[in-house]
Amino acid sequence: MSQLQQEITRRQTFAIIAHPDAGKTTLTEKLLLFGGAIHTAGAVKSNKIKKSTVSDFMEIEKQRGISVATSVMAFEYKGKKINILDTPGHKDFAEDTYRTLTAVDSVIMVLDGANGVESQTEKLMEVCRMRDTPVLTFINKFDRESKDPFDLLDEIEQKLGIQVHPLTFPINMGDRFKGVYNLYKKSLNLFSPSKTEVSEGLVQIQHLQDGVLESYIGEEDAEQLRKDVELIESVYGDFDLSAYLAGKVTPVFFGSAVYNFGVQELLDNFIAFAPNPKPRQSNLREVKPEEEKFTGFIFKIHANLDPNHRDRIAFCRVVSGTFERNTFYHHVRLAKKFKFANPTSFMAQEKSVIEQAYAGDVVGLYDSGNFKIGDTLTEGENILFTGIPNFSPEIFRELVNKDPMKTKQLEKGIGQLSQEGVAQVFTQILGNRKIVGTVGELQFEVIQYRLAQEYGAKVEFVAKNFYKAFWVTCDEQAIFDDFMRRKANSLAKDKDENWVFLAESQWMLQMAKQDFPDVVFHEHSDFKLVHV
Ligand code: G4P
Repeated sequence: MSQLQQEITRRQTFAIIAHPDAGKTTLTEKLLLFGGAIHTAGAVKSNKIKKSTVSDFMEIEKQRGISVATSVMAFEYKGKKINILDTPGHKDFAEDTYRTLTAVDSVIMVLDGANGVESQTEKLMEVCRMRDTPVLTFINKFDRESKDPFDLLDEIEQKLGIQVHPLTFPINMGDRFKGVYNLYKKSLNLFSPSKTEVSEGLVQIQHLQDGVLESYIGEEDAEQLRKDVELIESVYGDFDLSAYLAGKVTPVFFGSAVYNFGVQELLDNFIAFAPNPKPRQSNLREVKPEEEKFTGFIFKIHANLDPNHRDRIAFCRVVSGTFERNTFYHHVRLAKKFKFANPTSFMAQEKSVIEQAYAGDVVGLYDSGNFKIGDTLTEGENILFTGIPNFSPEIFRELVNKDPMKTKQLEKGIGQLSQEGVAQVFTQILGNRKIVGTVGELQFEVIQYRLAQEYGAKVEFVAKNFYKAFWVTCDEQAIFDDFMRRKANSLAKDKDENWVFLAESQWMLQMAKQDFPDVVFHEHSDFKLVHV
């Protein structure tokens, strides 16, 4: 095996998706503890803004500062190199999360056992479904009163459109929580609440009928476990690894992250099942990780809000080959060569300059404004990686310039911010108005603040009653021309000059679809691809 091949088969790059408060930060920290990357609990800071209604800039700045430190957490475990790509905890930054999901090969979904599938998880899973991303599920907080485990399994299947396959099963819950039964190892993992111990209480059970079970978990729970396991075995059968890798089935584990419980089991199964860096589609061909030549794409740009340090970091996911420090690479969109003197990697909390990175890794590149999200770097080939879509924003506001003397700065600023992915900007054809779309209130604060600080521009936002944005296309130019004439009020262009229909209500959308059956309304900007 070549060195490159060895490095690739060692790597697994994933993200944790969860509704806020389900335990993503806690689980991340515990994974790092088990991986030996950190030694004390509390080292991973939660990057969420706790008070969602109060927006103050220091909070935003703090959040962004923390999120760059924890953007990628790499650690070694049993010979593997694991890259965790962090995603913002706050729902207002959900767009960032969607984009990060384009840079991972699998995800771990964390659910709170008491709350089951929550709204944010549903949205994030929609993005995973689009790409058939393999999903491992960890149902957390079983040390508390939770929903019935079978109900939780049903809820996942119904709400998320993915089949489940429990690989462990909980024995009771809350203060009666005894642990989990491992269905494939046929062993008990006994729960002993400890927030610091990293060992788990494993007991091999030859046969569930064996009376020894009672001695560990008591009569009632032993009886219940036997029934549960019988039911699970008859319903779910054997675990199909290929169905997991195809994103059709999610293996499910139960535990309690805060008590380190079930985490090692999850990690051991993750390294056994989770895919290595996968090939990626470009506009011309599929690019394989083991190709000698380096290729990569930018999926996230982090701007520094500190006025004394205006640098940005562009996060590049290596798709193929080996990335080398101080080597010229081809920036496809700009048709220019760039080299990077200080490419950064992230080992747990430590940022350090690296000499090399391999397919599956994420490299931080210092940038003075040359990158936008979706940019591709290669050794000369003119390919562009596809599949980094924009989705419809949820809040729309018109951008109003309050200082006409600064119009140029404003144009430049808003252009830059939309390239960084802070917000989507649509220009209406009637009146040339700029409509800014985001998924949360906080981004408007960030935009206003950054336009003032970095570009000296003063803006206000006026609420707009749009319900959703749709990217529109039509094969017949004459029909599209007619559509543009009759629906001019609702039409705008996105930053890449694609046509977008801004629907004021579901009813308006329905009407437009009825009037123009030949016009296609796409839910995301990557409409040229069936699969992103
Ligand atoms: P998030 O990143 O998904 O938003 O969640 P986070 O890990 O911050 O966890 C949210 C809250 O849930 C935290 O409590 C955390 O301690 C708690 N938690 C996480 N895992 C478990 C678990 O397995 N069992 C129980 N009982 N609680 C769990 P908090 O009070 O918000 O914060 P903290 O003061 O405890 O840090």
